[in-house]
Amino acid sequence: MDKRIVLITGAGIGIGRASALTFGAQGDHVIVTDVLEEKGKAVVAEIVAAGGSAEFHLLDVRSTKAADALVHDLNTRFGGVDVIVANAGIALRVPMSEMTDETWHETLDVDLYGMLRVIRPALPAMKQGASIICLSSIMGTNYGWDEHVHYSTAKSGVIGMVRGLAVEYAAKGIRVNGVAPGYIRTAQLLNPGHSLGPDAADIASPYIPMKRLGEPSEIANVIKFLASSDASYLTGQVVTVDGGLTPGRY
Ligand SMILES: NC(=O)c1ccc[n+]([C@@H]2O[C@H](COP(=O)([O-])OP(=O)(O)OC[C@H]3O[C@@H](n4cnc5c(N)ncnc54)[C@H](O)[C@@H]3O)[C@@H](O)[C@H]2O)c1
Repeated sequence: MDKRIVLITGAGIGIGRASALTFGAQGDHVIVTDVLEEKGKAVVAEIVAAGGSAEFHLLDVRSTKAADALVHDLNTRFGGVDVIVANAGIALRVPMSEMTDETWHETLDVDLYGMLRVIRPALPAMKQGASIICLSSIMGTNYGWDEHVHYSTAKSGVIGMVRGLAVEYAAKGIRVNGVAPGYIRTAQLLNPGHSLGPDAADIASPYIPMKRLGEPSEIANVIKFLASSDASYLTGQVVTVDGGLTPGRY
């Protein structure tokens, strides 16, 4: 297949879904993965209905065995993955006074180790020009987030992983970058147990210089750019996409 092979984790909804649709629309073969089977299959159907190419695989990024098996299959069938969007993530609201080892571990397991699990087996077969994009957060780059210390920790860890991997693989022509979204209108943001809840737009917009939430497609477009040859000299960076929130003076 001469299409690029684009592997996306957590691609059934939100930013992952928007990224899958974006890569599908530009003619890549999208490997849609998620723990949400129905949602993931619906994304594949949407890409295919629009004339694109995609396939769904159930993948829980907490499983090294499952990630290894999927990536091995992709390496065998396609000769390697061209783009990885390590996107799957959870943000559980837990005050530090109630934090257990299990909850702490769960967040790092999905948000940080989950990225390692898909990237590690893919790297040996990735070729010159390949690209990896990891989802961090403004809660990893700039802000502390109360009742989300485990999340901020994981998202800061993503930045270290991006920088280290970028340097380690630069000579092989594999670029590694991150995206740090601000407040983006997704299920994660709108869930009060995870983030700001249904009033997210009212709560956050006054502090955002652009006075609105971001849309998933506005993150997907930056991911698309980072994965393209237009970003051929860009590696080891984390691009903040937040409507001006972090440079603002509030
Ligand atoms: N929405 C925001 O405002 C925002 C801000 C900063 C960073 N982010 C990051 O962007 C990424 C996408 O977030 P979103 O807002 O689209 O979230 P979302 O909750 O809408 O989607 C998250 C996706 O990850 C999947 N997922 C969760 N656990 C998984 C697991 N164990 N294995 C595989 N998939 C799993 C979910 O099923 C879902 O498809 C996350 O890493 C998130 O932390 C989001």
